[in-house]
Amino acid sequence: SPAVRDRLRIAIQKSGRLSEPARALLASAGLSWRESRDRLFCYGESLPVDLLLVRDDDIPGLIADGVCDLGIVGRNVLAEQAGEREAAGLPVVFREWRALGFGGCRLSIAVPDGWDWQGPAQLAGKRIATSYPNLLRAWLRAQAIEADIVVLNGSVEIAPRLGQADLICDLVSSGATLAANQLKPVLDILHSEAVLAGPVTPFVDARAELAELLLRRMDGVLRIRD
Ligand code: PRP
Ligand code: MG
Ligand code: ZN
Repeated sequence: SPAVRDRLRIAIQKSGRLSEPARALLASAGLSWRESRDRLFCYGESLPVDLLLVRDDDIPGLIADGVCDLGIVGRNVLAEQAGEREAAGLPVVFREWRALGFGGCRLSIAVPDGWDWQGPAQLAGKRIATSYPNLLRAWLRAQAIEADIVVLNGSVEIAPRLGQADLICDLVSSGATLAANQLKPVLDILHSEAVLAGPVTPFVDARAELAELLLRRMDGVLRIRD
């Protein structure tokens, strides 16, 4: 049975693109913490809501394991890990609760600048480097395209130049990284932004009311921003 807790734990990215806007949103919703530079656990002061500073890729797993209650993470990470769990026959126990309107990016297919892009059929038999094998596999399957997926955890954009892959499927925000590596985006397979992630099943203890309060306040902040 799940552990009963009377404080809510929210995981956010320790450092990176979503880190500052995530903190700002939670602060606007009235949360405050005792700040400490090196501490990865920040005890909530204004409400019994604590902050956990982690790697973004760890957030869905922390929710799945019940270590964390909620998290602010990219839809791309959440969707990829949902696909990974499905592929492994595990239940998907987390889901997107709210889209948060910041950290927008696309998961795109990008090909070398010199390619004369004709359409998805051109990808058949090619090697595609990505950090999102589950999302890419699902998209390729839906398009009935057979291609080889080369999994890399980072610096995906360099793979074509190194001869490791013919093209890539990676996140594009400003497009600067693609341009710097002589690649061009040709198709978006996912539109992403920061989301509030939480469990599929509702909380049964004091966390239910806390989560509801937090959601109400966050919705208020997001409405004003619109
Ligand atoms: C992301 C992404 C691309 C880059 C795209 O990497 O993986 O490499 O940003 O952004 P741009 O279109 O504005 O150039 P990130 O900086 O998050 O590093 P990571 O992949 O190591 O997490
Ligand atoms: Mg990252
Ligand atoms: Zn990257």
